[in-house]
Amino acid sequence: MTNKHILAGIALIAGVAVSSVAFAALESEKPVTPAQGWPHEKIIGAHYDRQAAQRGFQIYKESCHACHSLDFVSFRQLEGIGFSEPEIKAIAASFTVMGEPDMDTGDVAERPGQPFDYIPAPFANPQAAAASNNGAVPPDLSLMVKARAGGASYVYSILTGYREPTADDLKHVPGGKIPDGGHFNPYKSGHVIAMSPPLTDDLVTYTEGQPAATVAQMAYDVTTFLAWAAEPKLEQRKSMGFLVISFLLIACGLLFFSYKRISKRVLGH
Ligand code: HEC
Repeated sequence: MTNKHILAGIALIAGVAVSSVAFAALESEKPVTPAQGWPHEKIIGAHYDRQAAQRGFQIYKESCHACHSLDFVSFRQLEGIGFSEPEIKAIAASFTVMGEPDMDTGDVAERPGQPFDYIPAPFANPQAAAASNNGAVPPDLSLMVKARAGGASYVYSILTGYREPTADDLKHVPGGKIPDGGHFNPYKSGHVIAMSPPLTDDLVTYTEGQPAATVAQMAYDVTTFLAWAAEPKLEQRKSMGFLVISFLLIACGLLFFSYKRISKRVLGH
């Protein structure tokens, strides 16, 4: 290798290092995890915090549902976060859904929801959703926690990350200023989001004995609910995984000792 080659190599490495630093500065901030962590992200004993998920459903219903659909969740499935049958009936009935077509005329009338219904979308179609939201379509939240890198912590960070941008922050915003209808949020790619901050302290009233409805608490609760919606069978999957691994470890041990016994008899050592 000549000196030229070595110099070219060093220049290349330096170039990659400098551009990755520049890129990192432009990238969104790393998502934060709430202090108490996510019980459903534990390796052993992973579970959803059911109380938090129930409070989270309340927030979804009272705030997010004004704009976001949750297409893959039926009322009956809410059993999964610990609502009882009468509670589910009451929740379903508090939503209005499109009923079945009339046998003679084919007209579809609205009726109160039933446990077998899916949670109705707030807008009839994406065009109507965009028209009400400055041209941005609020995405369906059913799989949101699985769809974004960073998962639950990303959604939590988006909900808690709004702040007034500093002059330095604006350097990372394309064009150097927040466009009309946009809001600064360091966790969103491009640092501008079309959703106005959906949570403010005491936005909802929690029932007696529940924690205070601060933005951080509500973000934790609604994210827990959305994590459950995205993967309702996570607890079974993780505990099955744990059983399978334990079984394999025991089987490995048994195999090893039988190998030892057989090799002693056959080979004498
Ligand atoms: C007034 C309407 C409105 C309400 C209420 C609302 N959102 Fe949004 N949301 C939007 C819009 C519009 C977008 C699309 C933003 C964009 O693409 O810049 C969005 C995007 C999102 C995203 C995706 C961010 C990303 O990475 O693309 C998440 C997550 C989200 N909202 C969660 C929530 C939660 C949770 C609530 C309830 C606490 C909520 N939203 C309430 C309008 C709303």
